[in-house]
Amino acid sequence: MPTDEQPLLEVRDLHVEFRSRDGVVNAVNGVNYEVAAGETLAVLGESGCGKSVTAQAIMGILDSPPGFVTGGQVLFRGRDMLTLSNEERRRIRGRKIAMIFQDALSALNPVLTVGYQLGEMFRVHQGLSKKAATAKAVELMDRVRIPAARQRVGDYPHQFSGGMRQRIMIAMALALEPDLIIADEPTTALDVTVQAQVMDLLAELQREYNMGLILITHDLGVVADVADKIAVMYAGRIVETAPVGELYRRPAHPYTRGLLDSIPRLDRRLRRLEAIRGLPPDLRAVPLGCEFNPRCPRVRSRCRTDRPPLHQLSAVDGRELPGRASACHYWKAELTDA
Ligand SMILES: Nc1ncnc2c1ncn2[C@@H]1O[C@H](COP(=O)(O)OP(=O)(O)OP(=O)(O)O)[C@@H](O)[C@H]1O
Ligand SMILES: [Mg+2]
Repeated sequence: MPTDEQPLLEVRDLHVEFRSRDGVVNAVNGVNYEVAAGETLAVLGESGCGKSVTAQAIMGILDSPPGFVTGGQVLFRGRDMLTLSNEERRRIRGRKIAMIFQDALSALNPVLTVGYQLGEMFRVHQGLSKKAATAKAVELMDRVRIPAARQRVGDYPHQFSGGMRQRIMIAMALALEPDLIIADEPTTALDVTVQAQVMDLLAELQREYNMGLILITHDLGVVADVADKIAVMYAGRIVETAPVGELYRRPAHPYTRGLLDSIPRLDRRLRRLEAIRGLPPDLRAVPLGCEFNPRCPRVRSRCRTDRPPLHQLSAVDGRELPGRASACHYWKAELTDA
């Protein structure tokens, strides 16, 4: 459940660019989002829109060079992570904020047992003995429902299935009981049924530990059941934010509507499988005006010249729209001709 307290993490107008001989790639162009304790924010958008780079900048693991944070703030409990010393940032990373990656096999060390790798968290960060750390590892494997944890604690990563390996990644992220987890496409590499199980587990643990969760995905289907709110990203910027049910019912940006129309829905007799026409822009030359204008089915002349800021939505028809923001000049029309 969302809470009213100060956000755990606030990203404010974040900018990241990659500098190379071929030019500057503007990968992140003013990202704004926030997540509270106990809240799940899904970050959604097509491949290449900057979801992962944003997460890397938050975690302080951006590949630099070529990547540089050129503006903005990453406030964790009100403190700007971007201005901390490396030492302070390292303390927060892992302990307060943990990350789960898409590909467990490359994130785990193939020549060390999973018990050793899980136990390492406790040996290094909490100074536990080898024996106590292994006991903790077994406990964590139980928590993420790996069958026969006690027997399997000495197995190597390749001896587990993809779904089980992803559970181990979740266990690793949970080890130090962080306040926030950033999960970057945590289930993309898995079969559909296993995806659902892993996602349910993550959601359950998130509730139990009252953690904030940022769930990065390009799959709208995955997030419907677990997210509290959604931030839709396009060409390095957030173009819409809304509580999850609201976003599905009444999107306030043509790009969001396009994403929704491109998923098959059982509750619609006429299945409109309309993918959004065209391609996302080259981030070395983002179009003038609204970055979505070349693909927008309802583009008007103003959209080609003025970039719409992400504005908080005011009331429509006397109804308040709390927690909703859109970067479309014509959001009101979007909402009302649903
Ligand atoms: N090391 C790098 N050097 C140059 N450009 C990079 C680098 N890493 C990422 N980019 C560029 O930054 C942009 C955003 O990439 P990012 O990985 O954040 O996309 P994404 O939204 O996570 O996509 P996906 O859904 O495919 O994971 C892309 O255009 C990508 O080419
Ligand atoms: Mg990515």
